[in-house]
Amino acid sequence: MDRVTFKINGVKHSVGHEVSSTTTLLDYIRKVAELRGTKYMCKEAGCGACIVSYSRPSDDAAFGRHIVQGVNSCMVSITSCQDWEITTIEGIGNRLKGYHPLQVTLAKDNGTQCGYCSPGWVMAMYSLLKTKPRTMLEIEKDLSSNICRCTGYRPIMDAFKKFGTDAPPNVMIDIEDLKICEKTNKISKCNRPTNSKLDKEWYLVSKDEVPNKIIQIELHDHRLWYRVELLIDIFNIFMEQGTNSYMLINGNTGKGVVPLLEYPRLLIDISCVWELQGYYIDQNLVVGAGTTLTKVMEIFDKVSEDEYFAYLRVLNEHLELVAHIPVKNIGTLAGNLMVKHHHPEFQSDIFLLLSTVGAELTILQGPGLMEVVPMHQFLQTDMTGKVLLNVLFPPLNSQYKIWTDKIMPRAQNSHAYVNCGFLYKLDRKNKEVFECRIAYGGLSPTFTRAVRTESYIVGRELFTNETLQGALEVLSKELDLFVVPMPPNPSVEYRKQLSLALFYKGLLALAPKHKVNSYYASGAIKLHESRGLSRGQQDFETDPTTYPVNQPIPKLEGVLQCAGEAKYSEDVPTLPGEVYACFVLTTVPLGKIVKIDPSKALERPGVIAFYSAADIPGLNSFTPVDEKYITLFKLNEEVLCNGDVKYYNQPLGIVVAETERLAQIASKLVHVTYTDVKKPVIDIKEAKKIPSRNTLTLNIPPTRVGPNVQRVITGEKTVYSQYHFCMETLVCVSHPTEEGIRAYSSTQWIDSVQNMTSQSLKMDMSKIDVIIRRLGGAYGLKITRATQQAVACNLVVYKLNRPCRFIQSMRTNMRAVGKRLPNSTDFEVGVNDQGVIQYINFSIYADNGYIYNENFTYYGMDAYYNCYDRGPWNYTSYNTVTDTASNTWCRSPGTLENVVATEMILEQIAYELGLDPLNVRLANLDRARSSAVQEMTDIIIERSNYRERRESVEKFNKENRWKKRGLRFTFLRWSPVGNQYYDVNLCVYHEDGTVCISHGGVEMGQGINTKAAQICAYYFKIPIEKIQVKPNDTVITPNCFTTGGSLTTQNTGIGVQKCCEQILLRLAPLRARMGDVSWEVLVRAAFTADIDLQAHAIVNALDTENIDVYGVTLSEVEIDVLTGEHEIKRVDLMEDTGRSTNPDIDIGQIEGAFIMGVGYWTCEEMVYDPPTGEVLTDRTWEYHVPQARDIPQDFRVSFRKGSYSTPRLFGAKVVGEPATCMGVGIALALREAITAARTDSGISSRIWYEIDGPYTVEKIYLNCATKKEQFKFY
Ligand SMILES: Cc1cc2nc3c(=O)[nH]c(=O)nc-3n(C[C@H](O)[C@H](O)[C@H](O)COP(=O)(O)OP(=O)(O)OC[C@H]3O[C@@H](n4cnc5c(N)ncnc54)[C@H](O)[C@@H]3O)c2cc1C
Ligand code: FES
Ligand code: FES
Repeated sequence: MDRVTFKINGVKHSVGHEVSSTTTLLDYIRKVAELRGTKYMCKEAGCGACIVSYSRPSDDAAFGRHIVQGVNSCMVSITSCQDWEITTIEGIGNRLKGYHPLQVTLAKDNGTQCGYCSPGWVMAMYSLLKTKPRTMLEIEKDLSSNICRCTGYRPIMDAFKKFGTDAPPNVMIDIEDLKICEKTNKISKCNRPTNSKLDKEWYLVSKDEVPNKIIQIELHDHRLWYRVELLIDIFNIFMEQGTNSYMLINGNTGKGVVPLLEYPRLLIDISCVWELQGYYIDQNLVVGAGTTLTKVMEIFDKVSEDEYFAYLRVLNEHLELVAHIPVKNIGTLAGNLMVKHHHPEFQSDIFLLLSTVGAELTILQGPGLMEVVPMHQFLQTDMTGKVLLNVLFPPLNSQYKIWTDKIMPRAQNSHAYVNCGFLYKLDRKNKEVFECRIAYGGLSPTFTRAVRTESYIVGRELFTNETLQGALEVLSKELDLFVVPMPPNPSVEYRKQLSLALFYKGLLALAPKHKVNSYYASGAIKLHESRGLSRGQQDFETDPTTYPVNQPIPKLEGVLQCAGEAKYSEDVPTLPGEVYACFVLTTVPLGKIVKIDPSKALERPGVIAFYSAADIPGLNSFTPVDEKYITLFKLNEEVLCNGDVKYYNQPLGIVVAETERLAQIASKLVHVTYTDVKKPVIDIKEAKKIPSRNTLTLNIPPTRVGPNVQRVITGEKTVYSQYHFCMETLVCVSHPTEEGIRAYSSTQWIDSVQNMTSQSLKMDMSKIDVIIRRLGGAYGLKITRATQQAVACNLVVYKLNRPCRFIQSMRTNMRAVGKRLPNSTDFEVGVNDQGVIQYINFSIYADNGYIYNENFTYYGMDAYYNCYDRGPWNYTSYNTVTDTASNTWCRSPGTLENVVATEMILEQIAYELGLDPLNVRLANLDRARSSAVQEMTDIIIERSNYRERRESVEKFNKENRWKKRGLRFTFLRWSPVGNQYYDVNLCVYHEDGTVCISHGGVEMGQGINTKAAQICAYYFKIPIEKIQVKPNDTVITPNCFTTGGSLTTQNTGIGVQKCCEQILLRLAPLRARMGDVSWEVLVRAAFTADIDLQAHAIVNALDTENIDVYGVTLSEVEIDVLTGEHEIKRVDLMEDTGRSTNPDIDIGQIEGAFIMGVGYWTCEEMVYDPPTGEVLTDRTWEYHVPQARDIPQDFRVSFRKGSYSTPRLFGAKVVGEPATCMGVGIALALREAITAARTDSGISSRIWYEIDGPYTVEKIYLNCATKKEQFKFY
């Protein structure tokens, strides 16, 4: 057999020689089957956008039932899909056959904003429910496979929890609708049978029971692909083909851990070798090494009923935290262990667990040639040409105590920073230690067991302070010897201290209750595990008399998005002759390019061209430097490096190839010679001290200073960068046209793409069309950075006269493209006894990256004093350059950075004076401009039971040494900046009175289209269903400004009003004549009367309505002092939205913005290599945005009641960005918790300590200043 056959949505497909080893199921679904509803971003199983469902006969046999599971299609080689039945988003519901309840519910509950992640969420949930019914809590926990950057998760969780078995009856959606089991259509009969038949089927299968079918394919890229079903065939193939370049393929998910650009020559798919799967018990539990982690968990669940294997429950708890369900559905024990074998630095949880319990591995060296090795020996074993056969788990009686843990940067779906497992065999009195195993991961590539500490402990009484301290001393010395730097993972200091604390934590958890003083008892609790079901509450009032304006309605495109029918730039079908492009990046930080030699790349068959800056016929720039944007851009930024390298991984060329993967591979083959290579300055704190790197851009002197300076406080506030993390990456698909180029670019600014393409290609603007339907998230990244990539794509079209698709990988985005501006503020403030500012010198330094563009100062100039009295403020803003990528706007640019520095300063004043920070804030409030803040604070104080909770936090902190809480307010005044220019066109169709709007804004999840339609429906008094909002392009809406700054929705709304007013004016005489006829009749009459039914309006500076927005947030957090982890227990957030045009959409904007702010302050950490400035956190594996279990457990969002802006805006205010600023509230609350821990460590709460943002687990832990001597039982 030389072909693989499978079905997608019931349709048969077959592949063979024509596909490559790197062709994934995702590629096939999108490019060959042209089912573009399945999306992608990371291509490493880290984001969930690509999830589809599948079932395969082998699983059916093993599980004794028909199982449908979710899988990341980006992980699966298409040639692995033999006999698979795949269901994509199109297969579960669509406009023809009707939408699936999951699609409809997610859309109805506003669980979609940009919608790019939505098909992945639906398919993840669909697969979960197909596998088994789940409770609401299980649903929340089991969706860690997916990321949404827009919504903040709350509405997604609310929508999906309705499918929970324990959902309240009034919201529960009948899961019969989901047809959970395809065979029976009944859930009850689908539950896993517990009879002996299953047990038999779970046994390892002998080779006689398996019909042998070998598939052998010589792939397009000359790899040999085999699919075998018998162990013996693996060795036969080794004999035949040799073992110098091969890989066994199980789940193929190892490349999600360690990226793999090209496969070795020989590939053997062993995922259906049943001899490697299942389990049996002799004395040990023997589990086939090829068993998937999902099945391993089921086996553990079952076998743990046996008292000698009860410990497997502990392992299962740990396995819950390994990867996520779709990875576990195909990833295997052997695969995981072999990744560890090849890359010992991998913090494998499987290796850790097996080391902890003393498991052994059976290695097959050839037919019948077996060797059993303990875990530590495995890493030293040469595995070439060998197969991991099974894992032997020993029986352990109740004298064995086991505890494991895994500390991650967020609650779920991350590799461990440090993981640990402790096993103690105690005497019958639970005292003396007979045997002990102490295993760690994440400390060094070689250190896996603390053997010296183990031998110290054996023979001692375990739960005494003396043994504990003695063991900690030995362990500390042992760790000193072995823990090594492992960037971008946290520092040696943290990982070492954490290891000590985890050792103590484990003992607290295992100790008999009476042995532990209640003051220390909280140390035993795993913080994230203690989290229950989350909840949200949204509170706003609406005025039905203004409907559909002010009506809470779902987004117009919601269902299309959830069904995968909404189109994004890369969903444009492939054209014949299409090529792929990829940037070549510099590999030095600073220096000069002497020579670029692309010959090696061009030698590769399928590589078509290489272009450098010299190939650009016109201006080598992508930033529109123009009189009109002078406050925004000053300088041209190069599309491709012109010879002087500005930062590590600057784009220097473009490789063009026949496939995306080939372009990526070839981009690494371009050889570049450099000279004058220098060390870069990459840290704003260093750069701000170098005068030549700083430009004073603005000084606003105080209007008055106070006389009563009782205390002078100084300090520095620094927060680092944030990657936008759009789920749709930067992409451009361009086609040659009759006259020039048509570009489908994922840009927030089509005019900029058109303009800069024109300038760089010396082509008339009129020959270039740029089209955008919608964006899959943007947050500022796609304002100008998309232009660079679009210009590069258009250059390829111009040179080759062929269609080009330029999909910029997440890794390139993170390396080559700038991010939110890191910033650092120096200040000196004089205050009176109540903390009222008498004077303040406030100097903020914004890290622009290598060039000063995208003005930060402009956006900060009215924001720096937030809602406080501006009088005493002496404000200075500097632009600083570092040798990093040019940084770019990111949600609430300039405003956020200034506001949060101010909020931190207010907090410091309160701490140093020993005052309540709330009182200090109120004492400084600008009551003339920001009186709303007082009103909103009063409401939150009352609604949230602030006073009682304040007391209970203090009580909690007194009573618990190892868990601490914080409860903090943050205030916000947010003022939109600037004016913008947009076109709006509106036409009414004569026959049915339906309406089309095209406006210059870009829909990216903010609901701009829905609000435009609502306003139009309000004016014309027609149902919203009669209105369509079309894609925009540079023909219909030329010369428009970028969509951003939160203002575009408001401004396009004004444009829609103007258009509606024009049409109504033209219809008015008819209306007067015809009386109360229907809209349709009126429109038909207008058509007959030759009345123009199309209107055009522009919105410009004259329409600017920049109205203050206010916010108050109260956040409560809890930290684990022993790990640095945190949980957000509750957030009460009130924002002044005016009279919201669409409260549902605005709630979504607020929640999403706030969670993005939470990420900024907690888990999103960029790490650079200090000597080179290379970005080390360039993948989902290393850069962590919040997920569903990182949001507040109790998230209450409300609008300020009775607020109204202006009639032109229907009373509404801008809403897209402000709440991002209030994420600082989490940092403030964390500080209180950390301070409480420091107090217990003997440090006065009035001593301020700086923590640079983000407040990672590492920083939280280290700032608690815990000493190992404080670890005690009693
Ligand atoms: C998003 C993501 C998150 C993850 N999170 C975690 C985590 O939190 N903790 C953790 O421990 N792991 C984590 N992993 C790793 C995951 O567990 C492994 O990717 C998985 O178990 C590998 O199994 P596989 O079957 O897909 O291996 P494959 O990718 O198919 O193979 C990996 C390697 O194993 C070799 N191999 C496979 N089977 C055998 C065999 N029987 N004998 C000899 N060699 C063999 C192959 O030749 C190959 O070199 C994560 C992975 C991803 C993608
Ligand atoms: S693209 Fe597959 S998980 Fe991100
Ligand atoms: S709606 Fe989830 S990423 Fe945009």
